[in-house]
Amino acid sequence: MKDKQVEKLIKAEAKRQKSVINLIASENYVSKDVLEALGSILTNKYAEGYPGRRYYGGNTIIDKVELLAMERVLKLFKLKPAEWHVNVQPLSGSPANLAVYSALVPLGGKIMGMKLSSGGHLTHGQPVSMTGKIWKQVPFEVDAKTERLNYPELKKIAMKEKPDIIVCGFTAYPRFVDFKKFREIADACGAILMVDMSHFAGLVAGGVYPSPFKYADVVTTTTHKTLRSARSAMIFVRKDAREFNKKIDKVIIPGLQGGPHENQIAAVAVSMREAMSPAYKKYAKQVVKNAQTLAGELSKLGWRIVSGGTDSHLILVDTWMNGKGISGKDASDRLEKAGIIVNMNTIPQDPRGVMDPSGIRLGTPAETTRGKKEKDMIAIARKIDKVLRGKR
Ligand SMILES: Cc1ncc(COP(=O)(O)O)c(C=O)c1O
Repeated sequence: MKDKQVEKLIKAEAKRQKSVINLIASENYVSKDVLEALGSILTNKYAEGYPGRRYYGGNTIIDKVELLAMERVLKLFKLKPAEWHVNVQPLSGSPANLAVYSALVPLGGKIMGMKLSSGGHLTHGQPVSMTGKIWKQVPFEVDAKTERLNYPELKKIAMKEKPDIIVCGFTAYPRFVDFKKFREIADACGAILMVDMSHFAGLVAGGVYPSPFKYADVVTTTTHKTLRSARSAMIFVRKDAREFNKKIDKVIIPGLQGGPHENQIAAVAVSMREAMSPAYKKYAKQVVKNAQTLAGELSKLGWRIVSGGTDSHLILVDTWMNGKGISGKDASDRLEKAGIIVNMNTIPQDPRGVMDPSGIRLGTPAETTRGKKEKDMIAIARKIDKVLRGKR
């Protein structure tokens, strides 16, 4: 690279990434092939529109790239093109969610979404997000005792508030989601059911997390978490008389975006092929085994695991433990000094603030990509315990 300043920074970041234990639940390490597609000359091309209907000339090859990505995505999730449409152009997860509401929820309408403190994402209608300013959030929380979703309680809220859309799929909820129950609730109150599977998409692809496709009207996902692809997103839309697919395509372009990032889309195509391999299925299984081992060992060492464990790739640890432990920020800072990267996180009913909450979120997708197994998780848990119990 001629630009030595930027080259130096990239090299330094590569060194940092290699030298730490990465337990950020939403991060992963992509393959060389994904990086190659991402760094390819496809970035030079403007392709506003969709395959076969572009506003710019010169897109015969780009059309093939995008169609290949769409075909592979549907194949990976075992979806029939006659029943499901996928839009692979959203630039990332937040714009994808914004696109769904813009297409399907009237301005000022209601989005029923999980509160941030219970594990919801900002774009599920939180008041600080534009999704909570343009639309009104109908918030729900996990049960205070079990720290799991309480479906009868959700139904009560939905029947009272009659939201336009119900969003399920979360950023810090470690358990399986019962999509069938969410469907029943959506049908009872007349809402659209949207699943944001950003966090667990790779686990669905690997067959270790329930698939939402039988029940959802719309599914959004980022591609860069468990799915181990380039930073991007997609929107899956059930094809039926309501024609949501047409509405969503129109909102992406011309509604919200301009030219799609076709280098990103090519990188997604590459990783979809990778995710169809037996090796990826093994990977997804190992991600969950590792998370369960990590949670089990931390629990044995005396740390309270929110909801008592995990069904997925992520774990929420209550480090504060009613003042007997340390805050989430303190925990995250200390762990970083010891070479373990995590993020501070609120826990359900958190008595502390978002900027210094009561817990940390841990995830195993990145370290599993690096080949870590159960024995490594036990060693990591012990290291975490030692750091967190060290002198303040
Ligand atoms: C559930 C969920 N949805 C959406 C997003 C937003 O994705 P992005 O950061 O790509 O905008 C995230 C990111 O953490 C997420 O966890």
